[in-house]
Amino acid sequence: MSEKKVYAPIAVELEKDKKYAWCTCSHSSNQPFCDGSHRANNATPSLGFAVEEAKTAFLCTCKQTKNPPYCDGSHKN
Ligand code: FES
Repeated sequence: MSEKKVYAPIAVELEKDKKYAWCTCSHSSNQPFCDGSHRANNATPSLGFAVEEAKTAFLCTCKQTKNPPYCDGSHKN
């Protein structure tokens, strides 16, 4: 039986107008956020974003989403 690792989204409480850096490269140890590891791995840089209202959001960890940084269900494919 083959095991397929499922990268489910992580629910995070986002604060209004705070700047976040979503990891695009998968190397971060602080998923779903960037911890700077992309530099040592010569990988893609983080995606900066902010929200206009505080909310809970499901951030993508599989990095296949078409709507970064948010989960769009692509991890199920
Ligand atoms: S560690 Fe992945 S984008 Fe920075």
